[in-house]
Amino acid sequence: MTDARATYQGKKVLITGGLGFIGSNLAHALVPLGARVTLLDALLPQYGGNPFNIRGIDDHIRVIQGDIRDPRILADEVPGTDVVFNLAAQVSYVDSTTEPFLDVDINCVGHLHVLEAIRKLAPEAKVCFASSRLVYGRILTTPVDESHPTQPLSIYGVHKLAAEKYHRIYYDRDGIHTAILRLPNPYGPRQQMKHAKYSIVGWFIRQALDDGVLRVFGDGEQERDYLYVEDIVDAFLRVGATDRTDGEVYNIGSLERVRFVDMVDEVLRVVGRGRKEHVPWPKDYERNETGSYRADTRKITTAVGWEASVSLPEGIRRTVDYYQRFRTHYW
Ligand SMILES: NC(=O)c1ccc[n+]([C@@H]2O[C@H](COP(=O)([O-])OP(=O)(O)OC[C@H]3O[C@@H](n4cnc5c(N)ncnc54)[C@H](O)[C@@H]3O)[C@@H](O)[C@H]2O)c1
Repeated sequence: MTDARATYQGKKVLITGGLGFIGSNLAHALVPLGARVTLLDALLPQYGGNPFNIRGIDDHIRVIQGDIRDPRILADEVPGTDVVFNLAAQVSYVDSTTEPFLDVDINCVGHLHVLEAIRKLAPEAKVCFASSRLVYGRILTTPVDESHPTQPLSIYGVHKLAAEKYHRIYYDRDGIHTAILRLPNPYGPRQQMKHAKYSIVGWFIRQALDDGVLRVFGDGEQERDYLYVEDIVDAFLRVGATDRTDGEVYNIGSLERVRFVDMVDEVLRVVGRGRKEHVPWPKDYERNETGSYRADTRKITTAVGWEASVSLPEGIRRTVDYYQRFRTHYW
C-alpha cells in the first residue's frame, strides 16, 4: 500500500458527505499523505455529519457546507479535482420507506448531479462510490460475490443500485473513471450515535456505555460482516489510487464469520456494562432482513491487494475507547 498512498501527495481530493463517518475518516487518512482535501457536506441533521469529526485536521482541509443536489456548488468545487470519494447519502434503509422521495432525490438525483459535474468539469477525475450490501436483497448463497443477484428489499437498496449503474454508465459511455465499493456493516470512531437506524454496532456500544439494554431481534443467529472503518478507508484509498476505476463493482468485507449475537456479546464484554435481551422482530425490520451475509472479497484483493486487517474484538475495543473519550460530541 505504500506506493498507492504516495500517489495522493499534492492531489486534489473531493469527499462528498465528508463530515460524516466514513468521509471524515478518509480525510484523516488523506491529510498526512499530502492530499489537498475538500469536504462537501450538507450537514442534514438526521445523518452522521458532525463538525467534531474533523477535529485535528480542520486547519488542513477545506470544508464546504453544500448539497450535492446543487449544481452551482458542484461547478465551483469539481474543477481540477483528481479523485472524488462520493459518499454523500440518505443512509437509512428504514427512512427510505417513510421518505422515498427524499431518498431518490439524494441517492439518485444528487449523484447524477455529481457525475454530470465530473463529466463536464473534471473528466479525468477518478470517482469511487460508496454502495451497500443491501443492493443484494435476500441472500441466496454465502459468501456473496459480485455476481450474486441484486433484488433489493428496500427503496434505499434500489436507489443505491441505480446510483451504481449511473457510475457504470458514465464509465462505459463517457470514459469517466468510476469504481463502486459495496460496503457491509461498517463501524468505528466518528459514526453517529444518535439512533439505531444505521450502524447497529455503534448504537449497541452507546447502549452498553449507558448501562442499558441491547435488544436483539429474534435469536440473533444471522451472520453479519462487520467492517472496521480503517479497513474501509484503506479500500477506498487503494481503489482511488489505481487504474482499477473502470466501472467495476467490488465487495469489501472482513472475512470473519460473526453471528449478530457474537457482536453483541463482544460489545458487552469490552464495555463491561449493559445487558442483552431477545425481543421479537419488528415488522419493518423483518421485511428487510436479508438473511446471513458474508462478503466474498477475492475480486478486490486480486485488483488492488486489499484485505481487511482489523478483527472485530480489536475494532470494538478501539471504537469504545474513542467514544469513552469523546462521548459528549456524539450523544
Ligand atoms: N453506515 C452504514 O451502515 C453504511 C453501510 C453501507 C454503505 N454506506 C454508505 O457509505 C456512505 C457514507 O455513509 P456514512 O456511514 O459515512 O454515513 P454518514 O451519515 O455518517 O455520512 C453521510 C454524510 O452525507 C451527508 N449528506 C447527506 N445528504 C447530503 C447531500 N444531499 N449533499 C451533501 N451531503 C449530504 C451527511 O450530512 C453526512 O455527513 C453512504 O453513501 C452510505 O450509503 C453506509
